[in-house]
Amino acid sequence: MRGRFITFEGGEGCGKSTQLRLLAESLQNKGLEIVTTKEPGGTPTGQELRRILVTGDKNKLDPVAEALLYYADRRINMTQKVWPALDGGNWVLSDRFADSTVAYQYYGYNRQLAQEDLDRLYHLAVGDFRPDLTLILDIEPEKGLARSYHKAQSMEVKELRFEKKNLEFHKNLRNGFLKIAAAEPERCVVLNADKSIEALHREILNLVTKRFEV
Ligand code: TMP
Repeated sequence: MRGRFITFEGGEGCGKSTQLRLLAESLQNKGLEIVTTKEPGGTPTGQELRRILVTGDKNKLDPVAEALLYYADRRINMTQKVWPALDGGNWVLSDRFADSTVAYQYYGYNRQLAQEDLDRLYHLAVGDFRPDLTLILDIEPEKGLARSYHKAQSMEVKELRFEKKNLEFHKNLRNGFLKIAAAEPERCVVLNADKSIEALHREILNLVTKRFEV
């Protein structure tokens, strides 16, 4: 049987990577085979694209160039990692997916590119495939950005290209995620991420076990 595809989304410092890891551990303890991935950078080639996308000057790429590179990374991740894993019966948990491109490259930049063009890229790279569930971790940008800068202190290569964009960009993308969720309530669940790691994990585990009856 094909596994489930669950995506984690949200702004900077929302805690999705931690929550993904905790959910993976809990589902593994239930006997499920779990593969985790992330965008950008879920594959070796994707790691090379990630370096271009998340380091360096905040203005070095325009929204169209970014969208194309994120979709290149996504296509590689889907064909080399996600689809093979799902076909093998694994569940795949992904740290970001296509909603990030809509939130960041479309809403973040205040609609400098057309949503239909992003839809076309989605179709080209991903086809009709959709996540079974998308968890959107919502937090005030000021709080998330502070967490993100704190975390970057211990990083050798600072992945802060988007953090350096102004607060309006981050407010726009947060509202973008909320709009995406409102448009697709079956697929998306918005969670308040401004709480303890343990409390949020319990909420997520509860939601996932109920929805998929595991
Ligand atoms: P991360 O910090 O969650 O690993 O994500 C890397 C950065 O890339 C983050 O600042 C969000 C950004 N991003 C986009 O702008 N568009 C996308 O499509 C994806 C997947 C990530």
